[in-house]
Amino acid sequence: MGYWREATGIKGPSGFGSGSTAEQVTEGIDASALTVIITGGSSGIGAETARVLAQRGAQVIIGARNLEAANAVKQNILESTPSARIDIIQIELSSLKSVRAFADKFLAMDLPLNILINNAGVMYCPFQLSEDGIEMQFATNHLGIFCSFSFTAEKTGIEGRIVNLSSIAHIGPYREGIMFDKLNDKNAYNDKSAYGQSKLANILHSNELARRLKEEGANVTANSVHPGLIRTNLGRHAPVFISTIADLPHSGSLRLLELIQPTIHGRAPTVCTLKLQGAATTCYVALHPSLKGVSGKYFADSNEEKPTAKARDSALAKKLWDFSEELVNSKS
Ligand SMILES: NC(=O)c1ccc[n+]([C@@H]2O[C@H](COP(=O)([O-])OP(=O)(O)OC[C@H]3O[C@@H](n4cnc5c(N)ncnc54)[C@H](OP(=O)(O)O)[C@@H]3O)[C@@H](O)[C@H]2O)c1
Repeated sequence: MGYWREATGIKGPSGFGSGSTAEQVTEGIDASALTVIITGGSSGIGAETARVLAQRGAQVIIGARNLEAANAVKQNILESTPSARIDIIQIELSSLKSVRAFADKFLAMDLPLNILINNAGVMYCPFQLSEDGIEMQFATNHLGIFCSFSFTAEKTGIEGRIVNLSSIAHIGPYREGIMFDKLNDKNAYNDKSAYGQSKLANILHSNELARRLKEEGANVTANSVHPGLIRTNLGRHAPVFISTIADLPHSGSLRLLELIQPTIHGRAPTVCTLKLQGAATTCYVALHPSLKGVSGKYFADSNEEKPTAKARDSALAKKLWDFSEELVNSKS
């Protein structure tokens, strides 16, 4: 799955590689006709994604639970791009009520929706149930994005794109992939497997969504991405693990330099905000013209990659869709 390319930074067929930045993969692209929603834009990869898409002219809506942090990101972006168009709407992804309120607020803005980037996520948190009674990593990373937005592709003629932030961690879910019958069972919980499960769910969801959109004839694509191994606030529940991974030489040559930098300069190792290469694959999949019509695929280092067999299991994807739909409806 592209480990060699990630480690060496060698460019793939797209002309980009693990050393490419979000600015490089979107160079020359005019996004001024586009409205983009980015969840979790208040830090890390989401903040850098918001910055670059705003720089390319897109109207950016940041979905964030921490409004103060999101405002700081907005101010930061405005300093480098004074013309940036950025709005912030509060969202708590682990609460279905909050996700619905977010959708209503967005609809009230009467903007088109061209690109939806489901970026927000948590990793390895101790067992916890959401306010809807659902295991927290599944609730935040998967179920919170399982809501319908009306894309304006038909009206505007502009292809809509959905980008789900998955992870290489999709290779390590529970043995059965998705633990449908014990999802909320504290005794069966393992923080790493639960994260792997939620990231597997992101790919399965994208694939099933892509299939359904195609069947409906909608001019909207859905893809999933692994953004690389980037030291961000994501590691708050596992700082040692993340430091170890980030410092291994397989994390991508240029990116590795960036990851090590905060340690060299004596800053806190797990709290860095803007990661240039970390947002590249998301921005590539969201904007690049070469991906017109490409749907149901998985990308890493701005190139298409093959995820695990479980992630490509269309029966499992359908089962997850039906399960998620039932779960969401039961909480209405
Ligand atoms: N960093 C990596 O190496 C890596 C590798 C593979 C995949 N990913 C994926 O990339 C995505 C972004 O992660 P990151 O590394 O940029 O981590 P991050 O810096 O922790 O950013 C995650 C964002 O999601 C938000 N968020 C978390 N839980 C939320 C909730 N319940 N409701 C609303 N917002 C919530 C966070 O808000 P707060 O600031 O309020 O917490 C933050 O803005 C995640 O989906 C992650 O799984 C990251």
